[in-house]
Amino acid sequence: MNKYFLFMGIVLFGLSGCFSFGGYKGEKENLPVTINQAYVKECGSCHWDYNPALLPTRSWVAMMDGLEKHFGELITLEPKLHREIRDYLMLNSAEHANAELSRKIINDTQGTTPTRIIEINYIKRRHHHVDEQTFKRKKIRSRANCTACHQSYKEGVFEEDDVKIPPAS
Ligand code: HEC
Ligand code: HEC
Repeated sequence: MNKYFLFMGIVLFGLSGCFSFGGYKGEKENLPVTINQAYVKECGSCHWDYNPALLPTRSWVAMMDGLEKHFGELITLEPKLHREIRDYLMLNSAEHANAELSRKIINDTQGTTPTRIIEINYIKRRHHHVDEQTFKRKKIRSRANCTACHQSYKEGVFEEDDVKIPPAS
């Protein structure tokens, strides 16, 4: 009898282990998709409107507070718009997303304030075997152009099954 209980105990312990490694409290695979028209308009004209759940809050704050030096561009926004977009990004950042990818991003960026998503350890590692020439293809041009390859980004999906790399033309 005792052996039976010991056996069941091990089985249950093992099962709970599986669940806890699978993700936190019902965490989702996909990033949440939130829309803010001002953000799409003001921040989605030169590049795609980066899903806010791809960076921690402090990265968005640093970016929004440094728009006069935005990757070589000078961006000016009316104070009201600036506040709206800054608030939107802060409230929808990786910390606020119930998604596995966002948690990995948070874990990998502790103590740093990244502004390049592709430089975040986990993301960088996942692109190890995509070579430099591929990123330079006409339809891609930049590592930051996530949506050139990640077809289902609008649904918040960044998984390898949904990747389609545009051919070199
Ligand atoms: C005038 C054009 C322009 C506008 C408008 C603009 N950006 Fe950018 N942004 C850039 C350029 C150029 C880069 C560098 C892109 C690259 O390396 O491919 C960049 C890069 C970024 C990146 C880094 C992506 C990465 O992982 O490398 C983020 C995040 C970003 N912008 C957010 C914003 C936000 C937020 C706004 C609105 C306040 C905004 N951008 C508006 C030109 C712009
Ligand atoms: C040149 C095309 C390309 C670009 C640009 C690109 N990716 Fe990827 N990405 C891939 C490929 C290919 C994989 C699959 C890697 C593998 O097989 O493990 C991948 C994998 C990933 C994964 C891991 C998926 C999984 O199933 O574990 C994430 C997350 C991701 N990319 C996010 C991004 C983000 C965010 C950006 C922009 C900052 C980006 N990618 C830019 C091609 C690209």
